[in-house]
Amino acid sequence: MSEATWDVQDGAIVERPRNVREHPLLERIYQRHDRLIAARLPAGRTLELAFGQHMHPRADIGLEGWPSNATAVRKPALAGDARSLPFADDSFDAVIGRRFLHHVPPEDRERIIREAARVLRPGGRLALLEGTPGLYRRLTKGAAFRLGALEEDTDIYGHLSETAVTDLVEAEFDLVQSRTLGSPLMLASISESDLSARLLDLYERTQFVKWWTFAVGELPVEG
Ligand SMILES: C[S@@+](CC[C@H](N)C(=O)[O-])C[C@H]1O[C@@H](n2cnc3c(N)ncnc32)[C@H](O)[C@@H]1O
Repeated sequence: MSEATWDVQDGAIVERPRNVREHPLLERIYQRHDRLIAARLPAGRTLELAFGQHMHPRADIGLEGWPSNATAVRKPALAGDARSLPFADDSFDAVIGRRFLHHVPPEDRERIIREAARVLRPGGRLALLEGTPGLYRRLTKGAAFRLGALEEDTDIYGHLSETAVTDLVEAEFDLVQSRTLGSPLMLASISESDLSARLLDLYERTQFVKWWTFAVGELPVEG
């Protein structure tokens, strides 16, 4: 019998996500995201929420809902829930959340943003990267499931629009940046062939599809 790879905890979909290292183009796209995130963060102590199988290179510590993810990384990591962070107020300079808010019930997402604001010092930053819904995503993922290139779909809550992501950030933070990322080559990113990595240049030159939203907020310094 195969081991379970996901579960529902208080409504949140926790899981052992795909190993991005098995998808050469996707791995390079994620590395590109990681550079964009790092470029927008202040120096200092950084927390990553829901890091999956790979913590951001800038993160000093991570928190993850699927306990075995937290034991499989080399950096300090805690099993826990991003809706209730086990950290003191003002204890981080930056918080990162990559591709995970769509796993949390919509009514709980503001709590996560409030918790990120609580543990950040004034002037600290939150960087979020979230999948964006749309026809292209629906068709691409539908094709991938039919081809058997993706297993079970656990995205039961659907993705957040760019406005939904920026509204969440703006509820607690000053918005520093919001942009969309994505290319028509997303279907190729599911491939496990090393050849797919050769498409990275083309992927970078064809950024006209809304596949992800990247948003950065800065916690206001009280005047
Ligand atoms: C789609 S995966 C993304 C993983 C990683 N951030 C990435 O981009 O590769 C979503 C992750 O969010 C985690 N997760 C979902 N709800 C959570 C919660 N409330 N607290 C902490 N982690 C959570 C899941 O266990 C899973 O690892």
